[in-house]
Amino acid sequence: MYKLRELEKKDIKEINSWRQSGELIEFLEAPYRYINIDVEDEWYENYLRNRNNTIRCAITTEEDKAIGLITLADINNISRSAELHIMIGKEENCGKGIGSFAIKEMLNHAFLDLNLHRVELQVLEYNDRAKKAYQKIGFKYEGTRREACFKKGKYINLEIMSILKDEFLSCNVDSSINL
Ligand SMILES: CC(C)(COP(=O)(O)OP(=O)(O)OC[C@H]1O[C@@H](n2cnc3c(N)ncnc32)[C@H](O)[C@@H]1OP(=O)(O)O)[C@@H](O)C(=O)NCCC(=O)NCCS
Repeated sequence: MYKLRELEKKDIKEINSWRQSGELIEFLEAPYRYINIDVEDEWYENYLRNRNNTIRCAITTEEDKAIGLITLADINNISRSAELHIMIGKEENCGKGIGSFAIKEMLNHAFLDLNLHRVELQVLEYNDRAKKAYQKIGFKYEGTRREACFKKGKYINLEIMSILKDEFLSCNVDSSINL
């Protein structure tokens, strides 16, 4: 069984090892660059200082090992919106339903605990696996930011998707079921 819990300092080394993987970075908006462990520690400390508008959770195994990271960022308490980011660290853990489980758990938290109204995300146009997972949960395509991301020497379109509270609740009646 997998679960979400808030990111902890002990997860940072594992996350740093994922970020060295070109294979993973290819699917993320963030550019590939070398990140040493001191920068990663500072990133974590910065998160602790900004917990009021960001929630970072590790996706963990039963043994409490972090295998992914999911974040609600830019939480806006007036428009009641936030942005979702997710990564499963290693390819061997992808395609097993873990990402879909984690997104549903985080959306449950966003809509039922935090009373948010809208969650949006950006996805690289060629990231078909992520788009499929988002669509199945009920995210809707909103538009394209043309050539907004530079990856491996090329400009790539970024697609914007979003889901509203009512849409999520009507599409995911059983969303609290664990894998
Ligand atoms: C995107 C991500 C979170 C999805 O989580 P996951 O656990 O791998 O995905 P799931 O197994 O829950 O669901 C993936 C769906 O896409 C399908 N899929 C897999 N590969 C696919 C492909 N190449 N094209 C289209 N669909 C694909 C799967 O069959 C599954 O659909 P199904 O449930 O109908 O069978 C995860 O793969 C990941 O972190 N990838 C690397 C980083 C990333 O892309 N982050 C998102 C940035 S926007």
